[in-house]
Amino acid sequence: MQRDEVLIINFGSQYAHLISRKVRSLRARTRVVSYKDFIEGTCRGLGREWSAVIISGGPSSIRVGDPLITEFSFLKSVEVPVLGICFGHQLIAAVYGGEVSKGKGEYGPTKVRKVRDDRLLEGWGSEEIVWMSHGDHVSRLPEGFVALAYSENGSVAVMRLKDKPVYGVQFHPEVRHTEKGIKLLDNFLSIAGVRRSWTDARKLELVESYVRSELGSEGKVLVAVSGGIDSTVAAVLVRRIAGDRLRVVLIDHGLFREGEVAEVLASMKGLGMEPEVINARDRFLIKLWGVRDCEERRRLIGETFAEIFAEILERDPEIRYFVQGTTYPDVVESGASPGADRIKTHHNVGGLPEWFRLRVKVIEPLKELYKDEVRELGRSLGIPDDLLSRHPFPGPGLAVRVVGGFTPEKLEVVRKASRIVEEELGKAGLLSDVWQAFAVVGDDAWVGVKGDRRALGHVVIIRVVSSEDGMTADWVALPPEVLQSIASRITSELSNVTMVAYAVTPKPPSTIEPC
Ligand code: XMP
Repeated sequence: MQRDEVLIINFGSQYAHLISRKVRSLRARTRVVSYKDFIEGTCRGLGREWSAVIISGGPSSIRVGDPLITEFSFLKSVEVPVLGICFGHQLIAAVYGGEVSKGKGEYGPTKVRKVRDDRLLEGWGSEEIVWMSHGDHVSRLPEGFVALAYSENGSVAVMRLKDKPVYGVQFHPEVRHTEKGIKLLDNFLSIAGVRRSWTDARKLELVESYVRSELGSEGKVLVAVSGGIDSTVAAVLVRRIAGDRLRVVLIDHGLFREGEVAEVLASMKGLGMEPEVINARDRFLIKLWGVRDCEERRRLIGETFAEIFAEILERDPEIRYFVQGTTYPDVVESGASPGADRIKTHHNVGGLPEWFRLRVKVIEPLKELYKDEVRELGRSLGIPDDLLSRHPFPGPGLAVRVVGGFTPEKLEVVRKASRIVEEELGKAGLLSDVWQAFAVVGDDAWVGVKGDRRALGHVVIIRVVSSEDGMTADWVALPPEVLQSIASRITSELSNVTMVAYAVTPKPPSTIEPC
């Protein structure tokens, strides 16, 4: 643990990671810790290891008598600056003896008025627009606190303890709709004197020294690539240190997009690697065939990957290490979001059985980094942009884009229709502007006319979304002519499709992938 780290106490993972990423963009190192781990004492010693503390927003409510108030009473003796955001703001108020109660709530862009100057609000005008999302509010300031700003509806928008840098903000400075949010976070880091040492060079140095310390001088290193950013960057990084000891494989589960395996091989060749392709298409297909429950499919896919890795290890006893492209949110998410509902099983982490970890040492060079940081690292390692700017593609591949019973026929519909979506967006110059663009098929049928005859066919749903990090997403209003060419190509090139629909629901309430 380093003195220059900012501790972020996580009360709701979405918010905490966004805060963490924004703070990192200000070149400060962060660590996200769930409040449960924190209370259980895994991360005590505040004021010695950390240079500042941020308490995130979250979905809970805090009232007089809540055990959290006692559990977090240590905040009063923390020596470093503290910033509470949304729920964190209310928690600070409650801990210091103020009052939090239910009000009318404020949602979306809201005007706030500054009533007192403070370093935290340096660079702010007397009125600013912020993003609010709260039902509860601080109805009575604790003793010793002053309000620095109020919302247009009269709620305390910013408060501080008079004689100590303990702050609370009711809005979300981490979301881009809060126009001067980054400025506020930057001011907070300056107040705390946080060292801005989290640079690209530092990240590379850290990752390389981690890999060096994990890898002994002997034994082969196995890495499985998928064409995704994480596994590619992990492979390139480890090769710099492991050299010829690295064995690169690509497991073809048959759930890739059309032509994807060949494209990945070509990209890898460009990076000086020639992955060995393991054709496991039938094996995955047999397992998945007919399985309706998507979570069960995800589990089966994870299990089959592990079996294949085990077989590789059995055949090659010299393999001692296994590289995974796990990123920071995967690590934090897998153990540290108590109370958060499991929406989907992302099987990148924890999917490996215990015996596997006993047989080989698992190396996760990217486990301290966010996706955008991995992309930057990839850039500094010379990985070409077209590879780094590829759309995210889920580990279980097209299996999560078939809704209802899984059949090879539906898989082919999704594969071919997705290719058409990508091609048409590419022609319109829109493909690289969107986060993801793909087709989905379920069990619904639509009566069509093909060659004057009644034909019952599949309904294909097109999903094109924009997003910053996949945690929230907006549907993209494609030009009608692009939608039309997608629809007419799909229905003419796929004889078993009679209807094409467009998904116009953001995340939330929908997720990006259908299941
Ligand atoms: P959802 O569907 O949860 O997806 O809104 C958010 C982002 O995550 C991707 N995704 C996955 N990535 N393994 C992955 O590596 C998975 O199992 C998985 N499921 C969804 C999805 O494509 C989107 O970008």
